Amino acid sequence: MKRTKIVDIFSPELVGEQVCVKGWVRTRRGNKHVQFVALNDGSTINNLQIVIDLEKFSEEELKPITTGSSLHVEGTLVASQGKGQTVEVQAESIEIYGTADPDEYPLQKKGHTLEFLREKAHLRMRTNTFGAVFRIRHHLAFAIHKFFNDKGFFSMHTPLITASDCEGAGDMFQVTTLNLGDLPKTEDGRTDYSKDFFGKTTSLTVSGQLEGELGATSLGAIYTFGPTFRAENSNTPRHLAEFWMIEPEVAFYDITDNMDLAEEFIKYCVQYALDHCKDDIEFLNKMYDNTLIDRLHGVLKEDFVRLTYTEGIKILEQSGRKFEFPVKWGVDLQSEHERYLVEEHFKRPVILTDYPREIKAFYMKQNDDGKTVRAMDVLFPQIGEIIGGSEREENLGKLQSEIERRGIPDKDMWWYLDTRRFGTVPHSGFGLGFERLILFVTGMSNIRDVIPFPRTPNNAEF
Ligand code: 4AD
Ligand code: MG
Repeated sequence: MKRTKIVDIFSPELVGEQVCVKGWVRTRRGNKHVQFVALNDGSTINNLQIVIDLEKFSEEELKPITTGSSLHVEGTLVASQGKGQTVEVQAESIEIYGTADPDEYPLQKKGHTLEFLREKAHLRMRTNTFGAVFRIRHHLAFAIHKFFNDKGFFSMHTPLITASDCEGAGDMFQVTTLNLGDLPKTEDGRTDYSKDFFGKTTSLTVSGQLEGELGATSLGAIYTFGPTFRAENSNTPRHLAEFWMIEPEVAFYDITDNMDLAEEFIKYCVQYALDHCKDDIEFLNKMYDNTLIDRLHGVLKEDFVRLTYTEGIKILEQSGRKFEFPVKWGVDLQSEHERYLVEEHFKRPVILTDYPREIKAFYMKQNDDGKTVRAMDVLFPQIGEIIGGSEREENLGKLQSEIERRGIPDKDMWWYLDTRRFGTVPHSGFGLGFERLILFVTGMSNIRDVIPFPRTPNNAEF
């Protein structure tokens, strides 16, 4: 008999029909006459109740059916008498695929902490919480492709292995096939990277932007969606060493077009999640943070505040607040500053623009004041920075002198500079941290809980 997924079974048309369902046992309870098994197959947060009549099955047969075991059940779908579900299956045959010894199965009990479950990352997707989070993650990924596809952007796959560290976005993970215990040396005693796989030093990319700019200045509008890697030693609830980033890049866009795109994009994703992940979001709202749904609607309702970094610094200075990191013009904003502006001062998302040149990347378009660049960071409640982007410097001469001023080796940059050398155009783009978006939409508070297998300092077990 063909299997029906549990997500499809809660439909009135199927009542009275014979069904076949498969899944994992969440709980089992009951008495000497009847047993109830809550079965989940991952297709939805909702469990299906299996009713087992002990006149049809022996205690002995049912013994291995414990939390975590896996079953194939056939029976009749009937309207449920009990509270909490609309339909249930009256079991006629049960096949046990696999048992889960109650003395050993780590998820035997309910109510484990998120920290405990992080140690069990290989199994935590079987819990309600992580099932919900990872279904939402899927729907958001799909929404992102749909958003850009519907707008005529082209998806672009940029390389993960790169020979340039131009972003200065953080320390990079080196990629090598050299034997680290026996490195080839040049005559003056340094490591001879000409013997390495690519004939030079290479690393994992921190961003697909520079290649994305090549795409944008050819195809007009592109977006990347891939993993990026940063070896910064920041053990915070918002940083991963391996995270996913979405980077649209658009020819002929100025910073205002870029801000409009970012705002429309995030609102689209939040709306999509509300429309497609209702049960999962309601579950997270109930279990973890009962302001979550209001916060999601709040973001949809209001225009994001747009102001310059300089105006933002003034507000922070006049706030009378004692920050752990003191603020003055020129400093890089910390999460506490960003969250003050968003959560306490404006009480809605903020796009901060025109940051000091010295704290931003070399490729950002320089303003006429000589001190600031056309950067834009989108700051979100609970998260802080969720998007970073800018209008790009399209003037070859200015870009070259900035590269030189920063001591970036221009032998690495010739291909990038060709965009400005041949048919240069104004253009803009940004990067959205995918896990930060998921943090916002799920209301989870630690970024390790929104990626299946987090990579952080000293943690690459699974
Ligand atoms: O602000 P960032 O470093 O910008 C760039 O990489 C640009 N190349 C983007 C562009 O203009 N195309 O990173 C962009 C976003 C941040 O706003 C943040 O949401 C996320 O990526 N991010 C991280 N997320 C998780 N862990 C980390 N270590 C992150 N670093 C940045
Ligand atoms: Mg940034």
